[in-house]
Amino acid sequence: MNTPSLLILAGDGIGPEVMGEVKRIITWYGEKRDMTFDVSEDLIGGVAYDTHGTPLTDETMAKAQEVDAVLLGAVGGPAYDDLDFSVKPERGLLRLRKEMDLFSNLRPAQCFDALADFSSLKQDIVAGLDIMIVRELTSGSYFGEPRGIFDLPNGEREGINTQRYTTREIRRVARSAFELARKRSNKVCSMEKANVMESGILWREEVTWVHENEYPDVELSHMYADNGAMQLVRWPKQFDVIVTDNLFGDILSDCAAMLTGSLGMLPSASLGVPMENGRPKAMYEPVHGSAPDITGQGKANPIACILSFAMALRYSFNDGAEADRLEAAVEKVLADGARTADLLGPEGGSPISTTEMGDAILAALDASL
Ligand code: IPM
Ligand code: MG
Repeated sequence: MNTPSLLILAGDGIGPEVMGEVKRIITWYGEKRDMTFDVSEDLIGGVAYDTHGTPLTDETMAKAQEVDAVLLGAVGGPAYDDLDFSVKPERGLLRLRKEMDLFSNLRPAQCFDALADFSSLKQDIVAGLDIMIVRELTSGSYFGEPRGIFDLPNGEREGINTQRYTTREIRRVARSAFELARKRSNKVCSMEKANVMESGILWREEVTWVHENEYPDVELSHMYADNGAMQLVRWPKQFDVIVTDNLFGDILSDCAAMLTGSLGMLPSASLGVPMENGRPKAMYEPVHGSAPDITGQGKANPIACILSFAMALRYSFNDGAEADRLEAAVEKVLADGARTADLLGPEGGSPISTTEMGDAILAALDASL
């Protein structure tokens, strides 16, 4: 197989800072593990808008379609808040997800032992937590038509978004959740609002169909998404894999992130259908955003972005052993007490910088050889 190719889109805010540490990790793999990647970089989000007048050019979109994996930092920031909706930084990200058809968004929420006291929940609720949220990423109310803001005859305005799902869209994301569950604790909980939404009824029926016909060996339960939010903070360890739609998945995954101590810890993988070389279309990004309040100060936690690269090793490059190595290096530095500012509890302490966290992880990688 050819040298695997990566497109780095660092984006806005702290994106370039956290991605800087990932680039050092990629270099480490080339030098120490003889794993070389063909890396290119481009613009997305506000920086792309500033340069090209659009948050994602057609050229960048085409490149993303060709590479083995896209690594994304973050998009958006207050400077772009007043832009027209069609050119907002977030539109660049949504276009990538849609045109690459990345329907299955994996958001693992894992609580590292060293951070168990640090969650806003009690230690015994989160210690050892390891759940996977599978969020549908290419449909639902993020993309449904009709949408827009319209003038009404009475002088009022009306804002419309449409929650819409088809059989195929539900079945394919359900399959990816069941597949993952088989490699974990073999349990899937599907979340929707079948009590008030027809799209929720269809969701429940189709997930049940996939279960009965293809994955009867996996344990399946259903929950209304509001109850799911409550259960996530009440007793999150009852879950293994959660599968849900685009909007509920957005909300529930932020909630799950806080269980692990900090939004600065959560990676994600967005996967589509396999390409000719057998690798799935894929994009990897931290769940956190551009964090304008700390941008440019060297304070950002690079771990979510680094763990996203570990997910790339696992899901795009089929190298679970190297993904484990990188995850173990992160676990080791946390156990040794390395803390960026977001990982300091109320009792404070002195935080290390983004680069120092990168240094510590590289040292732990060296020690793993
Ligand atoms: C996420 C983010 C995005 C989303 C934004 C930045 C468009 O919140 O990936 O969770 O809403 O999907
Ligand atoms: Mg979100």
